[in-house]
Amino acid sequence: MGAHQLDFASWLSDCVQHVEEVLGSFLPDTSQTPSHLHEAMRYAVLGGGKRVRAALVYAAGEASLPPGTVASSAQNIALDHAAAAVELIHAYSLVHDDLPCMDNDDLRRGRPTVHVQYNEALAMLAGDALQPLAFELLAQMPIAPALVVQATEVLARSAGSMGMAGGQAIDCLSVGLDLSRTELETMHAMKTGAMLQASILLGGIVAGASSNIRAGLERYASAMGLAFQVADDVLDVVADTSVLGKTAGKDAAGNKPTYVSLLGLDGARQLLEELRADAQEALLPLGAGGTRLAEIADYIVYRDR
Ligand code: IPE
Ligand code: IPE
Ligand code: MG
Ligand code: MG
Ligand code: MG
Repeated sequence: MGAHQLDFASWLSDCVQHVEEVLGSFLPDTSQTPSHLHEAMRYAVLGGGKRVRAALVYAAGEASLPPGTVASSAQNIALDHAAAAVELIHAYSLVHDDLPCMDNDDLRRGRPTVHVQYNEALAMLAGDALQPLAFELLAQMPIAPALVVQATEVLARSAGSMGMAGGQAIDCLSVGLDLSRTELETMHAMKTGAMLQASILLGGIVAGASSNIRAGLERYASAMGLAFQVADDVLDVVADTSVLGKTAGKDAAGNKPTYVSLLGLDGARQLLEELRADAQEALLPLGAGGTRLAEIADYIVYRDR
């Protein structure tokens, strides 16, 4: 993965295919008991998704290797585990986000949501089981134990009450409220930014990023983490359900405070440009190693789904 001669679209589609295979091999088989739970877990994770978080793990890993070196086979295995781990946490967060007690959505990745396809209890349990599987994969990374510990801490903090789950809690309490710009930024940075940031940092940790590179990655990550949710807010307004694979217009219908409700469409798009510029600037110290990350920044900001 990551040969620089590949254009971005081919690199990303290779990445998507590769992580799909990796996830398929790590998820318990449906022949194992309890098969209905394993079926729901596989349904939640496989067969869709842009895999942006996995792509960020690989691209950050590539950017963090010393110039002129390639990843060892142990590092490549660890990158696969880290990429799968972030996609598992993300998939669990979507399953729970779609539940009737949260956003109450029936369409995800162009298919019925997990609670619609199965039932609410199984959707809750599939999420519950995907989360520890992610940490099991990190624990199995064949790299220095100190790096495994660092990676585990990063993922735990990003998924927990100071990160994704905390941001989702703020989201639930914010329905119908006019949040200030700072409050909205905090919510978005937590519910979505934290997991994108974790993906980037995990790639850096596995590849042994220098402190200089890590500083660049962190700045890139905070810009892109926020940009991802700003773009999601914009797409909820401008994209079609058939393209998005999830019901468009849900934020306004559900009275959610978003960057579009706060700044308007033009204001949100302007912010995306600013965040893109900030991310590109953060990558300058990484030189050519940061090329894929720069391309992913453009993808995140200009995507249509
Ligand atoms: C959707 O994430 C939920 C947010 C955090 C905004 P994605 O847009 O990455 O969803 P998939 O994985 O491609 O389906
Ligand atoms: C979801 O944000 C963020 C997480 C799942 C953590 P949204 O509720 O905006 O995501 P979509 O639009 O349903 O994908
Ligand atoms: Mg939500
Ligand atoms: Mg939602
Ligand atoms: Mg959304």
